[in-house]
Amino acid sequence: MTIVVTGGAGFIGGNFVYYILKNHPDDKVICYDKLTYAGNLETLADAQDNPNFKFVRGDISNRAEVYKLFEEEKPEVIVNFAAESHVDRSIEDPELFLRTNIIGTSILLDACKKFGIKRFHQVSTDEVYGDLPLDRPDLFFTETTNLHTSSPYSASKASADLLVQAYQRTYQIPATISRCSNNYGPYHFPEKLIPLMIINALNGKKLPVYGTGENVRDWLYVEDHCAAIDLIIRKGRVGEVYNIGGHNERTNLQVVKTILKILGKGEDLIEFVTDRKGHDQRYAIDPTKISTELGWNPTTKFDDGIQKTVAWYLENRGWWEKIISGEYKEYYSKMYDNR
Ligand code: NAD
Ligand code: DAU
Repeated sequence: MTIVVTGGAGFIGGNFVYYILKNHPDDKVICYDKLTYAGNLETLADAQDNPNFKFVRGDISNRAEVYKLFEEEKPEVIVNFAAESHVDRSIEDPELFLRTNIIGTSILLDACKKFGIKRFHQVSTDEVYGDLPLDRPDLFFTETTNLHTSSPYSASKASADLLVQAYQRTYQIPATISRCSNNYGPYHFPEKLIPLMIINALNGKKLPVYGTGENVRDWLYVEDHCAAIDLIIRKGRVGEVYNIGGHNERTNLQVVKTILKILGKGEDLIEFVTDRKGHDQRYAIDPTKISTELGWNPTTKFDDGIQKTVAWYLENRGWWEKIISGEYKEYYSKMYDNR
């Protein structure tokens, strides 16, 4: 099978490339990535020598580039990870999120319509469901929960989901969608909560917790997410949405304290800062459908996954030190100085 992985030089896409090369040695994997600030060829360094792997630089919102990719590579499966993915950046400047996440997805779908495809899989997010209140731990997102977005990022992802469903119904594009909770693990870009806190703690910098730190996220080790998508593209039913999550809810403050404990650092590093605008309170996925229909269940508990993740950042300083010494410095200063 020839699989195009868009956004494969990013966090989850990169892990997915490795997952497929390891678990399906007969598949051919083509990573198609624009290499934005979040894309990093060093993430794919260990795949470059694999004869079943190829990297193509390109933008999903560039029609000519996308059509050329389809003409030359004749993919059977597209897994669309490519996106602007950071909520805080979408609050600062929404436009690029609309171009990449909505227009880019529509161009990929047009290419599927023009050239044909066995499966188009859209990697979506639980953020399309909005948030749940903190005082109702009995509530979870199911696949039938209404879309109700809070940030320009989540609005752009929900728009893309609606386009995928429209193309599936109107043009019979064989599409599936997955909506996953927060991922963590190797190659996570340092702007996101877990890597940011690990790196700041290692560098003796303050750990900026938004608001009171009581917001809840439902954490999933990235390899479990990759396994779920792999199952969906091979066994999932066309036209279906699958929620992915492992019931690992933690408040942000619990996550930050766990990281400090693993690193043997004091809680005095924690600094409460101005809250994110429109900050979603709680995400919590009900994964019953994918579990009962496809037999997927997560294998990594949060307490083990966070240990492995901290260990990865300790062992791969070169990967993140290069990132935080570049344009990331300006980003950090803009978002956090005087916050
Ligand atoms: P990321 O920001 O780490 O990586 C995004 C990748 O997409 C980068 O390699 C970037 O270069 C590439 N890209 C961006 N714009 C592009 C364009 N126009 N054309 C081609 N490539 C482009 O993101 P991530 O955290 O790995 O998320 C991947 C996907 O999973 C996204 O669609 C995101 O919405 C979704 N998702 C993420 C999480 C999470 O916790 N990180 C959870 C659920 C769903
Ligand atoms: O739920 C899936 C989503 O998870 C994905 O769709 C997004 O692409 C991904 O970025 C992530 O979104 P979040 O906004 O939940 O992740 P982030 O790491 O940005 O923030 C997690 C929580 O931590 C959130 O409540 C905000 C808080 N936070 C974040 C940062 C960066 C802080 O308190 N301080 C910080 O410095």
